[in-house]
Amino acid sequence: MFEHIDAYPGDPILSLNENFQKDPRQNKVNLSIGIYFDDEGRLPVMKAVRAAEAAILEEPGPKPYLPMAGFAQYRDAVQALVFGADCPSRAAGRIATVQTLGGSGALKVGADFIKRYFPGSQVWVSDPTWENHRFIFERAGFTVNTYPYYDEVTGGLKFEAMLSAIDALPAKSVVLLHACCHNPTGVDLDRAQWEQLIDVLQKRDLLPFVDMAYQGFGSGLDDDAFAVRELARRGVPALVANSFSKNFSLYGERCGGLHVICEDAAAADRVLGQLTGSVRANYSNPPTHGAKIVTRVLGTPALKASWEEELAAMCERIARMRAAIHDGLRAHASEAALARYVKQRGMFTYTGLSEKQVERLKAEFGVYILRSGRMCVAGLNEKNVGVVVDAVGKVMKDPA
Ligand code: LMR
Repeated sequence: MFEHIDAYPGDPILSLNENFQKDPRQNKVNLSIGIYFDDEGRLPVMKAVRAAEAAILEEPGPKPYLPMAGFAQYRDAVQALVFGADCPSRAAGRIATVQTLGGSGALKVGADFIKRYFPGSQVWVSDPTWENHRFIFERAGFTVNTYPYYDEVTGGLKFEAMLSAIDALPAKSVVLLHACCHNPTGVDLDRAQWEQLIDVLQKRDLLPFVDMAYQGFGSGLDDDAFAVRELARRGVPALVANSFSKNFSLYGERCGGLHVICEDAAAADRVLGQLTGSVRANYSNPPTHGAKIVTRVLGTPALKASWEEELAAMCERIARMRAAIHDGLRAHASEAALARYVKQRGMFTYTGLSEKQVERLKAEFGVYILRSGRMCVAGLNEKNVGVVVDAVGKVMKDPA
């Protein structure tokens, strides 16, 4: 029966992370997966999350299925966080929101929905993008293409090339965008560029699907949502996926949301219905625990303030680590080669290291980064940054 099943080659991120766990070396450093570790190298439990969870556990009760669309208070709180509490599209009931299993769950539910209602559309992702984007959309039956994005030479954005490629797409093409903290490059559009891009998306009747997995890790919770809010403000039909894995450090709870900006409330009602159908066909209904935590934090002003403060402190720590690796590598490379460590935003820096250099980092120094050269700078700390600088400095001497 299963003779024809070929071996799974593994996932470039999750399988590497699993291999890291099995590596017996004491000095190993995990800069592969997009996870924030604190200065002690531990996965933090945020204070607000701890307090909310303690309060929830004080009130044990039955555990019924949640509705297919998820917990109503959660959906409302998440929509407010993503679009802003006073967003007019939200007030007008034009945004359909469902609770999802993290950002990946949102992408999959959204992909299934689009495949059903826009069967002729193809998907366009940035070159490069998060590896799982291609995988999710291809598995949902789409042809996935790329548009220009990252400029290897400058470590910045090829904005003009990106814009003209998108301007040439057929109507109803799905354009996958990263709201902030682009994964894997850490290179984002600025506000003026977003404005121009949204003009094109609108003019060409394209369907943006915005992935916002890192809200709060770029320039703050509101600024990071600029593109999403601008789409909603202009009433541009769009899908948005958001996740609480990173900004709540709730990776294993699988908490996220899928939002669809519609032209009116009647369309939003129908879209919401079809999204719930897509949820039912995938996993019936979402889990409860993480959603209760997020809802309690977002709905309790003191907890929300504590969460925002801790998230801001996490970002400051990442900025210090970016500066530390940048300064440490000065002895090994030019400023032009190193500026990316401090300019790129969020959890990742696209180092430009070759596959061979990446392999050496792992084999000789126990430093794990992705084959693409993506380094998760949120895994650096005062204790391991010296080891990493030393290792990267050594492999930089021998490019190939
Ligand atoms: C990453 O990009 O490393 C994270 O988003 C984890 C994942 O699921 O790939």
